[in-house]
Amino acid sequence: MNKKIISIAIDGPAGAGKSTIAKSISSKLGILYLDTGAMYRAVALKANRENIDTKNKDELSKLVKSIDIKVIYSHGEQKVYLDGEDVTAHIRTPEVSLGASNVATVPDVRIKMVELQREIASDNSVVMDGRDIGTYVLPKADVKIFLTADVKERAKRRYSEQVLKGVTNITLEAVLEDIEYRDKNDSSREFAPLSKASDAIEIDTTNMKIEEVVNTILEYVNNYV
Ligand code: DC
Repeated sequence: MNKKIISIAIDGPAGAGKSTIAKSISSKLGILYLDTGAMYRAVALKANRENIDTKNKDELSKLVKSIDIKVIYSHGEQKVYLDGEDVTAHIRTPEVSLGASNVATVPDVRIKMVELQREIASDNSVVMDGRDIGTYVLPKADVKIFLTADVKERAKRRYSEQVLKGVTNITLEAVLEDIEYRDKNDSSREFAPLSKASDAIEIDTTNMKIEEVVNTILEYVNNYV
């Protein structure tokens, strides 16, 4: 008998814990994890490399027509390829974060990325994280989670993450500013903005440990399956 394909949508603002939690859930359930933000980041990287302003909607619509983005899984890790090059290690800079939030406001960019995201979910069980997964990409997802956390706590998490990676030229204030900019930009765009689906379960992770959040979500998943 074929196993049923399940989809879990995890949305929320930057720093709410989406990727850490989604990764843990995917490994516990043995299903794919798709970080959709990485795809918008790859578009922003290409724009930066080609000196295209990430706020120039017409140029971005043109750029995305010929872009080749692929998501590949290697030893359980997601790798993002841009025009044949593995750019996974190049898409986490503050410049790319900001650019990703800008390119993500362009409908042509979103349409192309969403097509790829739906394709992956159509033949795999998946936990997908992003901003519009429960509302737009997978409106029929089996379990929808909306993660939030206080903005200062989110900035602290992102800052510590960067420091742990050895990044030294950042300040907590700059990270907070970046997150506040992206929160506003991602929530106020017209096409598929960051918002909680009416049937999503909201979890405020401000004072929760990762394991607690993961277990809470797994309970919802187990109740569903
Ligand atoms: O999750 P992230 O921080 O890697 O995402 C980078 C940007 O990409 C984010 O600021 C908004 C955009 N994004 C989006 O609009 N929709 C998604 N499903 C995922 C990310």
